[in-house]
Amino acid sequence: MKLIVTGATDGIGKSYAHELAKRGFNVVILSRTLEKLQKVAEEIEQRSGRKVKIIQADFTGGAEIYPKIEEGLKDLDIGILVNNVGMASQERQQRFLDTRNLDKVIEDMLNCNVQSMLQMIRIVLPRMEERKKGLIINIASEAGTRPYPQVSLYCATKVFMDFFSRSLNLDYICNGIDVQCVMPLMVSTNMTKNLRTNLLVKSADDFAREALNTVGLTNRTSGCLSHSIQSYLIDLFLTEYVMNSKITAWIATFTFQTLMKHRKLD
Ligand SMILES: NC(=O)c1ccc[n+]([C@@H]2O[C@H](COP(=O)([O-])OP(=O)(O)OC[C@H]3O[C@@H](n4cnc5c(N)ncnc54)[C@H](OP(=O)(O)O)[C@@H]3O)[C@@H](O)[C@H]2O)c1
Repeated sequence: MKLIVTGATDGIGKSYAHELAKRGFNVVILSRTLEKLQKVAEEIEQRSGRKVKIIQADFTGGAEIYPKIEEGLKDLDIGILVNNVGMASQERQQRFLDTRNLDKVIEDMLNCNVQSMLQMIRIVLPRMEERKKGLIINIASEAGTRPYPQVSLYCATKVFMDFFSRSLNLDYICNGIDVQCVMPLMVSTNMTKNLRTNLLVKSADDFAREALNTVGLTNRTSGCLSHSIQSYLIDLFLTEYVMNSKITAWIATFTFQTLMKHRKLD
């Protein structure tokens, strides 16, 4: 039985691939850079003794990239799909119209964060349905649980993942297929400029280990205890009323713009 992880050469995806290989699965990893794929495949094979297949794909591409992926997965018995690949815009925080190359960012982000999930599920779900067994894990984000300023497009793609996962779970749970949506807060990866880990910020390895232990217990999770507590507290204090106020918007814009200025000076 094999598992697939998209965006598996760094960060959360790489940790999911390692952890699941350790738990006995052969792995198919997909991402953009061939050398990184080869290196991670070697690492996983050495550490776990499981077999690894690599497929190079750039998920900012549209529907045209999927026939090659489908061909690569033909005849494989896929038990688990982890839709992890995702991107935020380069500067990460900015207002919608301040995004550089906005038209390209819109297309790339919708393809990478949304279309990739839908197409990968379209490819693997028929076999899971036949076997009446399967697990799909979609890595969304806390940013998809409520509106956050300065990351509107990213937030919206993650809301899509969350709602699609919940709805799909209802459609297929009676056919033995579980769909879990994971909504992390801060995990130290390239995407978060490798923030130092602490009580609030998890390492990717710790996060993947804890998140995988929630499979079968819940279909919608922040992934780990620390993030669940943080999400609960945000819910408690940042109510819709507070989030939608002009003062909050002003404070958020001022904070993000100051951070951006400092980052540019670094
Ligand atoms: N880190 C966090 O705090 C955090 C919080 C909430 C949610 N998330 C979500 O978690 C997921 C993983 O994030 P991460 O922080 O682990 O990211 P990361 O460290 O930047 O890793 C991204 C992975 O995806 C691959 N990738 C990026 N763009 C790609 C593309 N266009 N086509 C194919 N592969 C691509 C990268 O490999 P190549 O460079 O080789 O392409 C790499 O393996 C994302 O969906 C993100 O939105 C992260």
